[in-house]
Amino acid sequence: MTTTKPAKRPANPRFSSGPCAKPPTWTPAAIADAPLGRSHRAAVGKERLKAAIETTRDILGVPADYKIGIVPASDTGAFEMAMWSMLGERHVDMVAWESFGSGWVSDVLNQLKIPATKHIAGYGEIVDMAALNYDNDVCFTWNGTTSGVRMPNGDMIPDTRAGLTMCDATSAAFAMDLPWDKLDVTTFSWQKVMGGEAAHGMLILSPRAVERLESYTPAWPLPKIFRLTKGGKLIDGIFTGATINTPSMMCVEDYLFALNWAKSVGGLKGLQHRATANAQAIFNFCKTRNWIDNLAVDPATRSTTSVCLKFTDDRIFDGAAFAKAVAKRLEAEKVALDVGAYRDAPAGLRIWCGATVETSDIEAMLPWLDWAFNAEIDALA
Ligand SMILES: Cc1ncc(COP(=O)(O)O)c(C=O)c1O
Repeated sequence: MTTTKPAKRPANPRFSSGPCAKPPTWTPAAIADAPLGRSHRAAVGKERLKAAIETTRDILGVPADYKIGIVPASDTGAFEMAMWSMLGERHVDMVAWESFGSGWVSDVLNQLKIPATKHIAGYGEIVDMAALNYDNDVCFTWNGTTSGVRMPNGDMIPDTRAGLTMCDATSAAFAMDLPWDKLDVTTFSWQKVMGGEAAHGMLILSPRAVERLESYTPAWPLPKIFRLTKGGKLIDGIFTGATINTPSMMCVEDYLFALNWAKSVGGLKGLQHRATANAQAIFNFCKTRNWIDNLAVDPATRSTTSVCLKFTDDRIFDGAAFAKAVAKRLEAEKVALDVGAYRDAPAGLRIWCGATVETSDIEAMLPWLDWAFNAEIDALA
């Protein structure tokens, strides 16, 4: 079946799952007032860093007694720092249902080498969170960016637990409800739902996580960049803007711009609404096509940020080549950039639907997906 190219194109074809699209109102002027060439320890630098922390708290509804720090090396830095500083005190339940979670499992088993139980589900599925032992520490990823499968909620995590829960929330924060009372350690980076710049991580600690840090010293050495305590006490400065090493004030300014934009669209609820509307437009599209489907098996676990899709047409004999060719066509037409599935994930497409993406752009892109699919099917014949 030959189809003609749709007349309309998305105004912004950026659907990458990270770095993600900048906020729609972003221009380079957003960072014009960044205190560049100044010390980050000068009053102006400290004020900007503190504002980034406290506006994050405001928008995400993080409780006042939780600590929020800006740390090096993006989400990976924040999550590794937490694992290396806090794990080893007790047995660990390691949970994964896609690539990033699997990375944390592998680090705990092969690098930290501490007693741990693996709980693994394949791409499209999710681990039964009720089957875990919460007297152990538990590490998991809220939204599996590479499978498009997310936690539906935190109900399975008991309020009273002896262990700590550590949650990599990088593609969930600002798009999904994060139940703070169920999360002791939460990490994310700026370049996802907020469309910020990369390289800075956010580390959020519950009072119980702080207690662990102040009462337990791991058996292994910690590099300076991971150290959260000094003399058995939390280094409080990290959580007020005195970062461990030098942050980019340009990135901080950019993040502040994104946070202010978030407020202008209704804060957390507004951001969630935008992501949900984007994802729903794709779910509706799939419902009315018999050749494409969500990778997430259970609709309750479908991600509203990293929407992962698989081709289901039985005329396709090489799924990976087909999906790559579709993504290439979309890219060549500049109607959808960076929408190929993650390298370790099953063949398909991954379309970012976070809040910085406009629903009108998703809607303008979808007819192009019809077109690219049909063009590739034609090419098979
Ligand atoms: C769930 C998850 N964890 C970790 C990472 C790594 O994040 P970063 O590059 O910010 O360290 C990503 C990146 O896409 C991710 O999606």
